[in-house]
Amino acid sequence: MGFNLKNLHRISGISISVFIFLHLTNHLFALGGPALHISVMKLFRYIYRFPPVELFLFLCILVQIISGIILIFQRGFRQKPVYFKIQVFSGLYLSLFLVNHIKAVLTARYQWHVETDFFFASGVAVHYPEKLFFIPYYTLSVLSVFLHVACAHYVRRQQQISQQAVTADIRLFKKEAYMICLVGIIVTILIMISFTGLLYPL
Ligand code: HEM
Ligand code: HEM
Repeated sequence: MGFNLKNLHRISGISISVFIFLHLTNHLFALGGPALHISVMKLFRYIYRFPPVELFLFLCILVQIISGIILIFQRGFRQKPVYFKIQVFSGLYLSLFLVNHIKAVLTARYQWHVETDFFFASGVAVHYPEKLFFIPYYTLSVLSVFLHVACAHYVRRQQQISQQAVTADIRLFKKEAYMICLVGIIVTILIMISFTGLLYPL
């Protein structure tokens, strides 16, 4: 495997995905109520708030955004298949989201000295008018992760056997990508109904 920008983006993406897996699993625990979400978050913080781990995560996010944007310029956008366009749009959204999201978390922690727990995130998803922005903002963030990974999976599966790929294979790869999207939609709905107060009063 040669070292190029795409490999860097993939390796850094896999590292970030470990955090995203923990983070979204944590948010799914909100189905059991804020107290459960907060106790799981306290546990997970031992991992991702350990300073070397947190620094590594932030570095990976920086690498991910820069390498992703360069990849878009290298590949171009016009006359590309639809899955590539979805990959670009979801990547661009994730760039904006991650910069804003991390800035909010760090400002709250170091400037406002506010606890960044369940209530920090749900407050803006429950109160009017902030929720008009924050509900689509959070919803698209989770959906974008799954769409981006579904496209990456589809491309890699095609490349793995590009020589012998037949129509049946392509159909199977598409099915796998759709399954990833379906899981993404379900996870997004479960997280959002918890954070917007549809399951219990907030
Ligand atoms: C949550 C963070 C992200 C993860 C986990 C992630 C993961 C991945 C993975 C695994 C691939 C496939 C690489 C391969 O085929 O070897 C990929 C491709 C790509 N990503 Fe990301 N990515 C993320 C964020 C971004 C961002 C912020 C952008 C920038 C706008 C971006 C733009 C792209 C593009 C354009 C490709 C296609 C590259 C190509 O086929 O040439 N990604 N991503
Ligand atoms: C419904 C969607 C989301 C909500 C409500 C949410 C909420 C939060 C909260 C409350 C924190 C602070 C955690 C803490 O203090 O321990 C946080 C941190 C963070 N979130 Fe999210 N998040 C969401 C989606 C995402 C997504 C999709 C990503 C990645 C693509 C992401 C990346 C991060 C990162 C990198 C941090 C900083 C972790 C650290 O403190 O070191 N979040 N988020």
